[in-house]
Amino acid sequence: MDAPPLAVTTDEGIATFSPEQLRAMRDEFQRFLLDYQFALREVETKLGILRDEFQLMHDYNPIEHLSSRVKSADSLVEKVVRKGIDPSFASIRAHITDIAGVRVTTSFTKDAYRLFDLLTQQDDVTVREVKDYIAEPKANGYKSLHAIVEVPVFLSTGRVSVAVEVQFRTIAMDFWASLEHKIYYKYDGAVPDGLLAELKDAADSAALLDARMERLHGELHGQRPGPLRAV
Ligand code: GTP
Ligand code: MG
Repeated sequence: MDAPPLAVTTDEGIATFSPEQLRAMRDEFQRFLLDYQFALREVETKLGILRDEFQLMHDYNPIEHLSSRVKSADSLVEKVVRKGIDPSFASIRAHITDIAGVRVTTSFTKDAYRLFDLLTQQDDVTVREVKDYIAEPKANGYKSLHAIVEVPVFLSTGRVSVAVEVQFRTIAMDFWASLEHKIYYKYDGAVPDGLLAELKDAADSAALLDARMERLHGELHGQRPGPLRAV
C-alpha cells in the first residue's frame, strides 16, 4: 500500500510530497554529498602518499593524525540558514566551502607549513583561500593553518572541481582546539570572561610547548629535511 503524502509547512503554506518525490529528494541530496566524499578520498590519498614517501625517504613521519569528514546534513542546513544562503544545491556548492573537511595533525609547526606547501603546490590542486591562524592566531588563542582547495574528481560524466577545507595544526594546537570547542559548546558560545582568559593562557602554554619540543627535536636529530620556505 502506498504511504500517504507528507505535508510540510513552508513560507508559501503547506506543501505535500509523495513518497516518490521524497525519495527523489533524498537521492539528489546523497548524490550532492557524494562528490565531496570523492574529493576527500583524493586529498587523503595525496596526504597519505606524502606521509609514506617522507617515512621511506627521510625515516620521518610529519603526520601524527589524519582525519576527514563530510559535513552532516544538520550542520549543513544550520550553516545555510545562519549565512542566509539560497538553499539550492548550486548556491550551497558555491558558498559553503567546508562540506568536505580534512584535518592534518602534525608533529611540529614547520611540518604543518611543509605539508601545506607540498599539497598546495601540486598542479591539480587549486588554492581558493588561505587563513593562517598560526602566524596570526585568533583573539581566543586558536591556531591552525586553513586552506580551501579545489581538487578534480573524475566521474563517468566528466571532471568536476570540488572544494575541500584542509586544516593543518600541531598536536598541541589540536589538543587546545578540541577542548576549546567542547567548552564553547557547553556554554553555548557565551563562555564566562574568566574562562576565556584561562583558555587564552592555555593556548600560550601550548605554543610554548610546541616551540620547546620543536627545539628539542632539532637538537636531538639535527635539522631534518628543511622546510620549503622559512617559517
Ligand atoms: P565557519 O563558518 O565556522 O566555517 O568559519 P569561517 O568560515 O569563518 O572559517 P574559519 O576558517 O575561521 O573556521 C573554519 C573552521 O575552523 C571551523 O569550522 C572550526 O572547525 C575551526 N575553527 C575556527 N575557529 C575556531 C576556534 O576559535 N576554535 C576552535 N576550536 N575551532 C575553530
Ligand atoms: Mg567551517
